[in-house]
Amino acid sequence: MTDPLVALRTWEAPEVTSWGRLPMNAVDRRSGAHSLDGDWRFRLLSAPDTPVGGPWSTASVPGAWTMQDTDDLPRYLNVRMPYTEFPPLSPADNPTGVYEREIDVPAEWAGRRVVLQVGAAESVLLVHVDGHPVGISKDSHLAAEFDLSGSVRPGGRSVVRLTVVKWSDASHIEDQDHWWHAGITRSVLLYSTDPLRLADVSVRAARDGELRVDCQVRDSGGALPAGWYVSGDLDGLPLAQDAAFDLANAEEERVSAFLGEARLRARVPEVRPWTAETPELYGLTVRLHRADGTVADTSRHRVGFRDVRIVGRDLLVNGERIFIRGVNRHDFHPLTGRTVSYDDMRADLVLLKRFGFNAIRTAHYPNDPTLYDLADELGFYVVDEADIESHDHAHEIADDPRYLNAFVDRVSRMVLRDKNHPSVIVWSLGNESDYGANHDAAAGWVRRHDPTRPLQYEGAAKLGWADPEVASDIACPMYAPLEDCVAHALSGRQTKPLIQCEYSHAMGNSNGTLADHWAAIEATPGLQGGFIWEFWDHGILQRVNDGRPVGRGGAGLYDNAVAAPGHRWAYGGDFGEKDHDGAFVADGVVFPDRTPKPVMYEHRELSAPVRLQGVRPDGVTVSNHQHFRGLEWLTAEWELSLAHGGTLIAPAELPDLRPGGTAVLPLPFALPRDGGEAWLTLRVTTAEDLPWAPRGTPVCAPQVRLRAAAPAEDAVGAGRVEIDADGLLVHPLLTSAPVLSLWRAPTDNDELGGTALRWRAWGLDALMRSLVSVRQEGDGVSVLAEYAGTTGVVRHRQVFTPVEGGLRIDEQAELPTEFDDVARVGSVFETVAGLDRMEWFGQGPWESYPDRSAGAPVGHHGARVDELFTPYLRPQESGGRHGVRRFTLSAPDSTGLAIALDEPRQVCVTRYRAEDLTAVTHHDELVPRAGCVVHLDAAHRGLGTASCGPDTLPSYLVAPGVHRWSWTLRVL
Ligand code: GAL
Ligand code: MG
Repeated sequence: MTDPLVALRTWEAPEVTSWGRLPMNAVDRRSGAHSLDGDWRFRLLSAPDTPVGGPWSTASVPGAWTMQDTDDLPRYLNVRMPYTEFPPLSPADNPTGVYEREIDVPAEWAGRRVVLQVGAAESVLLVHVDGHPVGISKDSHLAAEFDLSGSVRPGGRSVVRLTVVKWSDASHIEDQDHWWHAGITRSVLLYSTDPLRLADVSVRAARDGELRVDCQVRDSGGALPAGWYVSGDLDGLPLAQDAAFDLANAEEERVSAFLGEARLRARVPEVRPWTAETPELYGLTVRLHRADGTVADTSRHRVGFRDVRIVGRDLLVNGERIFIRGVNRHDFHPLTGRTVSYDDMRADLVLLKRFGFNAIRTAHYPNDPTLYDLADELGFYVVDEADIESHDHAHEIADDPRYLNAFVDRVSRMVLRDKNHPSVIVWSLGNESDYGANHDAAAGWVRRHDPTRPLQYEGAAKLGWADPEVASDIACPMYAPLEDCVAHALSGRQTKPLIQCEYSHAMGNSNGTLADHWAAIEATPGLQGGFIWEFWDHGILQRVNDGRPVGRGGAGLYDNAVAAPGHRWAYGGDFGEKDHDGAFVADGVVFPDRTPKPVMYEHRELSAPVRLQGVRPDGVTVSNHQHFRGLEWLTAEWELSLAHGGTLIAPAELPDLRPGGTAVLPLPFALPRDGGEAWLTLRVTTAEDLPWAPRGTPVCAPQVRLRAAAPAEDAVGAGRVEIDADGLLVHPLLTSAPVLSLWRAPTDNDELGGTALRWRAWGLDALMRSLVSVRQEGDGVSVLAEYAGTTGVVRHRQVFTPVEGGLRIDEQAELPTEFDDVARVGSVFETVAGLDRMEWFGQGPWESYPDRSAGAPVGHHGARVDELFTPYLRPQESGGRHGVRRFTLSAPDSTGLAIALDEPRQVCVTRYRAEDLTAVTHHDELVPRAGCVVHLDAAHRGLGTASCGPDTLPSYLVAPGVHRWSWTLRVL
């Protein structure tokens, strides 16, 4: 007999969002449930209507089969669907996984309801028990529950079959920018309840301590019996029955045959409000009692008292205009694809907390439920986004009535699941799906069901940031130019908070101008922040020899995967896909093993809760930049960095400051007289162990300059300058003489933004040097050379003068007007092997670039040369240090080179020439050189974010015309 679930081809019927599925609710059934996770029998069919036959293999649940031992591998496409069929159709080749296992239903469950919960299945789930159809569910990122009471026998054994169809009508609205996978990606549970149970609990907890708990009681069949009642307590404080909604004495219409409603209330005296800075939670227990007082059902919640309101154009939490220092987060893991454990999620959030983030947008679907528990607990504001992205067919679908159901279903089920989380402050209707009546239908549902939170949708907001008609209470653009945001805020026409749902695209070496964004946000009423795109570089750990994902079980590799021989971080195209979008999937602020990229340090500093606001004769002004708390959770130390004298440390006493408050602290050090640059840094760390950081974890290091550099004069030396026949410097420690460089290995921003294309067209990557003249000039030698590109010639002069202990090199390059935006103007040379350590005075210790250098304080820094390089997945310009005044490169016996620069300059010391980096596509293919490749730049172009969004600001471009720079080279 044909299976009806298959016969109806429901995977091509968008009107069918479910069948037999229980309503979503916020009663957490995870604790006390039986886990059905583990190995299941598994078969991969080529289509949903292929007869189930052949031998079984096994698959782990939860887990995507695309990351396990099957031929159906992960695939990365951003906007384009991986097949040509229009919505709602699917390709004939439609991998379908059949999962099967036995379940033993405990005899004690006799007379009770038995419920199967499938945490997430991608993209259509068909459920059978003992061969009988039980239900259907769609939405790959929300759980589906089915009542098995009529299908299983307590004390008996049944066979559960979960059939998962990969491509469906639903895939067309799950076209998010990440890997395509398939399988059961969250846990599967079995639990039981009394037939009469708590069907839902809705909590409203306001910052004044007012608590309202609405409980729904449902029965599976018969009438609600008399005398049952609901009780609750909040950390022992009993809740009162609201007489108007009392289950026991309810009016007729409140207790019908199958639904009872009860409302509990409390007023919590001296409530400790919840905010992301102060994530205060209270424990709520709700109980359903039988008439004799015994407990039939219990539901536990953690409650945070807080208000979210939009007043005028400000988003207020507990009455305060907060800043959203957000990031977009996918459920991602390099070994499982999508499945994330409690520890994984906690590690994500702990890292974000440590780097100053306070908000998450669950791009672009409801994340794993545990994420919200952790956000409540650790303190994050969450924009909870529904699983709707129809990017490739956005316009057709937004008004397609066949998809109306799916839109409302997805948004409403998210709200029903997550409504009790204090962390969730905004609902989002989805992403990149145009804007149509289907969105308005979903918005209508949310506004009615949950008037306590604003709603946002970028696709609607972009029709008019101030338009009251569109379904978005927030102006939430993506990648809007900063000047447009500022102009809107200053226009007098702004009516909604402006919080970018995506900005500062973190692909490769990126996030230029983040500091400019934050300077504008903090200075411009109406701007409240945004969400960086994105948290993860979605590299999948791959064995290079057979091209397979390593999958969970590659234990030991994960911590150090890039270093493990024979492995790499795979991106689009690496699994043999013909069509793909390459490294665009690797665009996060952390690497696939969660190592922070340098931008994280920049972000940490930009979100500093404590700032230094300038030096005054009587001290230095310290301010508290938080919204809700004092500085008592922090401790600090002063550090004085002297260009000519090392580093001094002194204890610091943080003042007792309210949010927004300032105080003047006396200068902790008397400046030594001997001149030279001097910088004062306040090293701020956590004062005690916190849930997200042990005591002593760095929080920020604000810095002020106490004294500028005095101009230095090099004493004339007696040395001789040796120049070869090509006019190139000969030096015992250099294997390659300093020459002019105008190029860098293009970053992803350079490539995708089109700049690299111009550089290649100009021939900057292969300039032809020709010697013009060599002249004796006083004690020195002046060398003039020309560097010809395809469209212009750069004249470059180097004057080599002996100075005490070494050599001074004065350089000048004259760029023709057509080279109006080059990567750099500077010198590049290479050293002998063995100089493996760099010590410098300048900004650091982490990588920094002209438009991403706010998080790198000036000081004395040191690192092994190998550690200076940042292993971006696709090799590109990397490892630069901004604002370097001088540095040494030395061998273990302290011999080596010392270089001093005329001004703070961009310096890069690596094992790779720019052309080494462009010759390969993955980090593991790079072969380090034994010596150092050293770039000293008179000017270096900013990084910007042009791989998706605005390029750097004009002030960070390298202009044509004359550039001059000088440096001295000494042997240690
Ligand atoms: C946005 C989109 C994201 C991602 C990003 C680029 O347009 O919402 O999902 O594609 O661009 O990485
Ligand atoms: Mg998209």
